[in-house]
Amino acid sequence: MKKRFLLQTLALAALAASTSGVMAQEKFKIGLVLPMTGQQATTGRQIEAAARLYMAQHGDTVAGKKIELIVKDDTSLPDQTRRLAQELIVNDKVNVLAGMGITPSAMAVAPLATQSKTPLVVMAAATSSITEASPYIVRTSFTLPQASVALADWAPKNGIKKVVTLVSDYGPGIDAEKFFKERLTFNGGQVIEQLRVPLRNPDFAPFLQKVRDAKPDALFVFVPSGAGAAVMKQFLERGMDKAGIKLIGTGDVTDDDQLNDMGDGALGVVTSHHYSAAHPSALNKKFVESFSAANKGLRPNFMAVGGYDGMRVIYEALRATKGQGGGEALLGAMKGQIFESPRGKMFIDAQTRDVVQDIYLRKVEKKDGQLFNVEFDVIKDVKDPGKVKFLLFVCFFLSLGEGGGGGQPCQRPQP
Ligand code: PHB
Repeated sequence: MKKRFLLQTLALAALAASTSGVMAQEKFKIGLVLPMTGQQATTGRQIEAAARLYMAQHGDTVAGKKIELIVKDDTSLPDQTRRLAQELIVNDKVNVLAGMGITPSAMAVAPLATQSKTPLVVMAAATSSITEASPYIVRTSFTLPQASVALADWAPKNGIKKVVTLVSDYGPGIDAEKFFKERLTFNGGQVIEQLRVPLRNPDFAPFLQKVRDAKPDALFVFVPSGAGAAVMKQFLERGMDKAGIKLIGTGDVTDDDQLNDMGDGALGVVTSHHYSAAHPSALNKKFVESFSAANKGLRPNFMAVGGYDGMRVIYEALRATKGQGGGEALLGAMKGQIFESPRGKMFIDAQTRDVVQDIYLRKVEKKDGQLFNVEFDVIKDVKDPGKVKFLLFVCFFLSLGEGGGGGQPCQRPQP
């Protein structure tokens, strides 16, 4: 009797273990680590909303697996991002990590992605070198060199020769400053002063006073999403536009999340970026409408589109691997994806795992009583200029070793 009871108990335990095994197998977990509170909270809010919209539109089951989105708030502190990512890998056994609101967060998680062979889809952070920090990183946002170079080509052709740069003092700001300056100088322009403001709680006033004194044709700005409205306000309050100084920058400064509240002083500001809520395509119109309807009228910004497309990359990788893929297989299926995004055509370069996309020049205009970044020119299929330099370097050395033959990294990708 005792023996039969023991056998029954063991059988039940085995059944429970195997059932929970099947249940666990049927789930596909995405660990989305984002700043949901603190200085970068708008980034978290936009990306989470976009990821949920993607799931609502495309269902929550792919290749027989139920998608589970686990959202964690890192308050944009990289130590927190690392701790949360570690917990997601070890305790939750996530299949994919995603999010990463700022560069230091992505950098903090990169070694964990490598050690655990977990694909890490960077949806926001935009320093060029991020994708080189782990072979498991795939990026769906943009890079600052991509956006900055386009503006440095436009500026001198439009009467802007002398520029002061003002950037947040960390990875993406330093990329923006460097690539803007190099290209502007190449085009015959001049950066007469380079100013860097702290990332945390910046006070722009003393820096803007310096800009006024330097009397450039334009002030080029990079600040991360969420900080643009403060720059715009202080720029206008100091009457810098009236003093003949133009404000230009990457599209982070006229962020769609804040633009409509910046007031008419923002009219005419020219920026370069990969996404505008006013992008005139049928797909984008649908995206903006659905996003707004699901989020009490909120307008999606470039962070939202990074999150939306990141989900697309994950869903399609899971579908391509028929739900069976581990980290390596998923990563393989993410590389080389090409599709129409609300931003336009986009492509995940299989060699660099970085996004190749169109970059637009835009001007703030009023449409139906609201402020928008209205696109007026496009540079097609822009690869990250940071990577192009790196690849040229690799190619140079390969060609030395192979009698000029080059090698795989030296071939142009064929989207
Ligand atoms: C970054 O930290 O990489 C970052 C954050 C916000 C932006 C752009 C880049 O708008």
